[in-house]
Amino acid sequence: MMHSASAPGKVILLGEHAVVYGYPAIAIPFGTMRATAKAVPSPSGSGVSIIARDVGRALHVHLDDDTPDNALTYAAQLALRALGKPSLDLTIEIKSSIPIGGGFGSGAAVSAALMRVIALAVERPFVNEELNQLVFEVEKMHHGTPSGIDNTVIVLNQPIFFQKDKLIQPFKVESPLTFVIAYSGVPASTRETVGDVRKLYQSNPDHYGSILAQIGALVTTGQNALQTGEVHQLGELMTQNHRLLRELTISSEILDRLVETAQSAGAFGAKLSGGGRGGNIIALAPPEKSEGISAALRTAGAVRTWLLILGEAPTDPKT
Ligand code: MEV
Repeated sequence: MMHSASAPGKVILLGEHAVVYGYPAIAIPFGTMRATAKAVPSPSGSGVSIIARDVGRALHVHLDDDTPDNALTYAAQLALRALGKPSLDLTIEIKSSIPIGGGFGSGAAVSAALMRVIALAVERPFVNEELNQLVFEVEKMHHGTPSGIDNTVIVLNQPIFFQKDKLIQPFKVESPLTFVIAYSGVPASTRETVGDVRKLYQSNPDHYGSILAQIGALVTTGQNALQTGEVHQLGELMTQNHRLLRELTISSEILDRLVETAQSAGAFGAKLSGGGRGGNIIALAPPEKSEGISAALRTAGAVRTWLLILGEAPTDPKT
């Protein structure tokens, strides 16, 4: 029997990097891009294999290898151990439309889809809390010192207010908000940017600590603006957040250009989203200007743009 599972990408609306230091942040799942895992039985005694054609990998999972150097193998091992090391003969194929290194949580989404499909194959689906913990373990391999925001928003598949070691708050908005997302085409390593921000912070804790605190304060104001639909204020906060991220040295020429382009084309505000120095930007757009903003962003060098409508009523295929 074939099993399949998937997980969405994500964008960070406000608060990346500061979230690693315990400040709040806001994240939204982005279901237009997804990682999927399909599992089919393989010949008896063959064990668990993972095929990831997108990245040209074919891997065999050795349950007792204590030093896996690959995040896919590690994710599979963790899932199998959590499920009581069942003896399984399975071939799992992973596919993902989430750009790797794009700031969209590709690593967490792939881990979540992979672990989910293994649990389905042994007929013991994970509850979200358990899966979230397991994906977080793999995130540590990807990112070193992750806050946990990526795995949480991706596993829950809900917009969240997130703060490390605090209760996660899923939220809804009163009326839909339109975002334009643009990918710079430049993959970047979150491990590196998080590490560089840490070095900066250690070099001058007063100065950089104050920038992180300003980001934290801005997120708290942003939560209210988001819930009351104050789009002008929310946009302004996003742009301020971008300026503060620039001071943390994690913007880049193309990201600054895309943020400025979105604003000149009529966005309420825009910022880089995710680890930075590449990856993507997110702009809050008046709905009637979203197409124009997308076109301007592509002209300015974005390799791809998407619309994300937060709070859109789900379409029911039966009606
Ligand atoms: C990455 O999506 C968000 C960062 O804040 C890292 C993290 O929170 O783990 C840059």
